[in-house]
Amino acid sequence: MAKFDFESLKNDYYSLLKKISVRKGVNELNTYLEKHGLFKAPASTKYHLCTEGGLVFHSVNVAKLAIELKKILLTDISDESVILCALFHDCHKVTDGFSNTTYIKNESNDSEKQPYLWNKNQFSFSGAHKSLLIISHFVELTCDEMQAIAYHDGPYVQAWEDIASDPYPLTFLIHFADLWSTWVIEKGKDKIIFNKKFLEDSL
Ligand SMILES: [Fe+2]
Repeated sequence: MAKFDFESLKNDYYSLLKKISVRKGVNELNTYLEKHGLFKAPASTKYHLCTEGGLVFHSVNVAKLAIELKKILLTDISDESVILCALFHDCHKVTDGFSNTTYIKNESNDSEKQPYLWNKNQFSFSGAHKSLLIISHFVELTCDEMQAIAYHDGPYVQAWEDIASDPYPLTFLIHFADLWSTWVIEKGKDKIIFNKKFLEDSL
């Protein structure tokens, strides 16, 4: 798993935030998320970046990659839209919007314990759609941004059927940046090339 320096991570987060802070409501959204533990939140209970700060590390990775992809694939959309969606697509992992923390530190003494537990006492709703609700409470979103946030999990989840006939380009961009960050960058696989030849040891 990729390691991160917490101070430089915070700097990266704030410099991305600064780029979109002219957008009405973004600073208030950030204040709300910080108040509810943005910098403490993990990205999962036991899989992906299940450690303090894991969520911000992941969100910054997705934003940085999405900006690079946008330069090639989606030049007409604003950096602001891309950063906003990428940085906050998983904000439901901080809180459910009803003052309930999403993940609770597992304090049990079990040696096999997973680092975090899913808080069962929270708003029962799809995670991605919870992110959309939280962001849109503070920031007025375009339809591209709404779809990209709500369907960033892409065809990996059943909800994709809702938009399967008309996914927007920003949705694919955020989905791919999320996928690549999670499975390649954050697993430290971006420097590994599997170039072994088929049956090369057969002679
Ligand atoms: Fe994500």
